[in-house]
Amino acid sequence: MGWLIFIAFIIYVVYSSSKKKSAFVKKPAYNSYTNRRPYSPPIVNKKLNEDQIYIEKIKLSDEQQKLFDKIENSNDHFFITGKAGTGKSVLLQYLKYKSHKKLVIGAFTGVAALNVGGQTLNSLFQIPTGFIDISKLRVSHRVATLLRHIDSVVIDEISMVRVDMMEAINVLLQQARGNKIPFGGVQMVMFGDLYQLPPVVSDEGLHEYFAHNYGGPYFFNADVWKNTKINIFELTHIFRQENDQVFRDVLNAVRKNQIEEITLNTLNERHVANIPIEGVVTLATRNDVVNEINSTRLRQINSPEFEYRADISGTLERSYFPAEEFLRLKKGAQVMLLKNDPERRWVNGTVGVVESLSQTEIKVRINGEIIYSVPQASWTKIRYYYDQETRKIKEEVLSTFTQFPLRLAWAFTIHKSQGKTYNSVIVNMEGGAFAHGQTYVALSRCTSLNGLYLTQPITREDIQVDPLVTSFMEQIVIEEIEVK
Ligand SMILES: Nc1ncnc2c1ncn2[C@@H]1O[C@H](COP(=O)(O)OP(=O)(O)O)[C@@H](O)[C@H]1O
Ligand SMILES: [Mg+2]
Repeated sequence: MGWLIFIAFIIYVVYSSSKKKSAFVKKPAYNSYTNRRPYSPPIVNKKLNEDQIYIEKIKLSDEQQKLFDKIENSNDHFFITGKAGTGKSVLLQYLKYKSHKKLVIGAFTGVAALNVGGQTLNSLFQIPTGFIDISKLRVSHRVATLLRHIDSVVIDEISMVRVDMMEAINVLLQQARGNKIPFGGVQMVMFGDLYQLPPVVSDEGLHEYFAHNYGGPYFFNADVWKNTKINIFELTHIFRQENDQVFRDVLNAVRKNQIEEITLNTLNERHVANIPIEGVVTLATRNDVVNEINSTRLRQINSPEFEYRADISGTLERSYFPAEEFLRLKKGAQVMLLKNDPERRWVNGTVGVVESLSQTEIKVRINGEIIYSVPQASWTKIRYYYDQETRKIKEEVLSTFTQFPLRLAWAFTIHKSQGKTYNSVIVNMEGGAFAHGQTYVALSRCTSLNGLYLTQPITREDIQVDPLVTSFMEQIVIEEIEVK
């Protein structure tokens, strides 16, 4: 008995001293010049919940609702197009949360995929990046199991999906389902605007290959579409420039490269001598122009700099990062919110000014008056799988990126601005446009003509539409939505 008490006593002493020690384990050192937060576990799946709450509060317009019903009650393929800001991505996310179908959501680029809570097409179908040789494709067991159980594949920013990817999706679905009909019988639902940024075709040889073998690099050039009907609909209500008819007309003319001299002059009246420097963002073609503007402006502020490091769980390639890994800010810095607020106090693209900073909290003044404490946000990279037990398509979280959803916003590139909305924009076309649709994407971010400033006049060379897009859009039949 005495021995037992003695042993229990020894165990107690060892245990309590080990606990004490752990209480004194050194905390991760803070860099004395910065204010990095210590590591905290990621809030798994927060992003999906934030988006869901945002979408739950949206009331679809009549045309959005009609299209939702059409897609929901049919197995036909759909291409839903519409000008910038017509609510294509909102309708897509509505489907994600409200559809009774088993569906997977994908996009070509990582940023576009994270934007709508989907997966990149390369990872969804397990296709290596780069040119896809269709003859070598073999669907993997895991992907085949998933693809056998889905009703629809839903894709955003379809203008950026290249023809080889479209063919690959067809072949892999056919293999997985052992069915030779197009897409193995799975419904394809595609959203996008072909007058915005096109697929990337990095070298001349590839460009020629697509031209000779398919007639072009776009999704619609795929052979599978030659004998397959797509129902094409267009969302027409522009939410973004709702109150500016003149500007909507200018934008529509730029979008299709059908701008008359008089309209171009109206646009170029925005090349004014006095461009404001506060409360306005610059969109530029070139990265060096953008970096120069942002770093100069931050340096000019005479107050302490704070740095916030993103928490990244799992592995996430740098090209997927939805916000800064190291966010450097000062009081007075102009910032942009990078995410829709579930409480709808701001949206992705809202611009504000940093009002105060601490290691754990950032307060931002929005609309010049209201000050909000901006909480951290999470973006989740997911992978779909089929769960045999529940017979449902489930999402597995591969990694989570948590950061304050803010970035310096005196300037950024037009490519990064796709999908955003601003009240006041300086468009800097230094060096000229170098991609189809680039000028349209830049100008159409702004909500009104009065909010737009041009550092130099827009020239006809800046307005570029791919003739392949023009002829495709002329030859298709866009069906009526029949709203009340
Ligand atoms: N039914 C709706 N009610 C209110 N706002 C909407 C609705 N649909 C879209 N929006 C808003 O309009 C803006 C543009 O929508 P988005 O889906 O990004 O357009 P697109 O993908 O066509 O460019 C977003 O700020 C979005 O929240
Ligand atoms: Mg969109």
